[in-house]
Amino acid sequence: MLSLGIESTAHTFGCSIIKHCRDDRHTSGNEFILSEIRDIYKASAGWGIHPRDASKHHAMVASRILKECLKESKVDIKDIDVISYSAGPGLGPCLRIGAVISRALASYHDKPLVPVNHALGHLELGIKLCNLDNPLTLLVSGGHTMLLVYHKNKWRVFGETLDITLGQLFDQVGRKIGFASPCGNKIEDMANLSNRNVLYSLPYIIKGNDVSFSGLLSSVKKLLEKNSINISDICFSLQETAFAIIVEAVERALAFTENKEFLIVGGVSANKRLSDMLQIACKSHNCSFNSCPLRYCGDNGAQIAWTGAQMYFSDPSFGIKPENAIVDQSWRLDSVFIPWR
Ligand code: KG4
Ligand code: ZN
Repeated sequence: MLSLGIESTAHTFGCSIIKHCRDDRHTSGNEFILSEIRDIYKASAGWGIHPRDASKHHAMVASRILKECLKESKVDIKDIDVISYSAGPGLGPCLRIGAVISRALASYHDKPLVPVNHALGHLELGIKLCNLDNPLTLLVSGGHTMLLVYHKNKWRVFGETLDITLGQLFDQVGRKIGFASPCGNKIEDMANLSNRNVLYSLPYIIKGNDVSFSGLLSSVKKLLEKNSINISDICFSLQETAFAIIVEAVERALAFTENKEFLIVGGVSANKRLSDMLQIACKSHNCSFNSCPLRYCGDNGAQIAWTGAQMYFSDPSFGIKPENAIVDQSWRLDSVFIPWR
């Protein structure tokens, strides 16, 4: 079965075509991904994602990205079996571009249409690419900071952020420095320039299994206003504190669940320091550490194509009529029923 996935929740407009087979175990690595093309909206320096501008970007690049995606996969759109789109959570104007394009394609070519939860897409693709069974999963991105365990047809939230996400923390600090969103990788580069002699004391807030970063953000912003302080040392202190909070939550979940597989997915999983810290924690709990391959840890169409294919294959009633292609800006991952796992 051939599945076309369209991603447009926030900064990225992406398309991908994947091949899904009944016994998909014969496809290893990423060979089931026939093509994956994306274009990322860039905000102006010092600014975050402006939803209307980002949606204009998506509308402008959509046709080119789709054409390139079909060309790379050598698939004719007539041979696609199912079209999937990210229906939420995300930014309303951006989501609507993906939904409108998918709806038009599905109705013109008479294909089933599957609305996919974006966060679930990160998890499903990570599990497939890392060849895992049932991992304790950390989803860290601009939209999510969640620690999840699969149980009885749903992903259950073991812990999550009580305010801003880890990605938002880095993006807001980055913007204060003068970078353009998304800027987690620039914070990481700055932190790597620190000689690590200074660790500023910053708010460290974890309540049960839930974490909070808004106090940390305010304190870091105040430090940045003091011109005498080295920005690299601030970024280093920010990373060490935020990641220690996350690792504490992960260790608690590992001790509780005794899970022997751990997976990290989402844009922030590209951070090397976070991976290093999590690897140490996993080792001490005799658990395998797995990270979504770098190319696919940020938003992409393959996460939508793969998840939509699994949904439709397990139950064709996941397919909707094009006219019912709606979006839900705050669609929670733990509300999605999962019959295929
Ligand atoms: O998964 P993603 O592409 O989009 C969302 O679903 O939100 O994640 C984007 C987030 C942004 O906040 C970005 O700053 C962050 O991932 N990010 C990083 C790094 N690379 C991207 N954060 C920390 N370190 C990185 N190297
Ligand atoms: Zn995402």
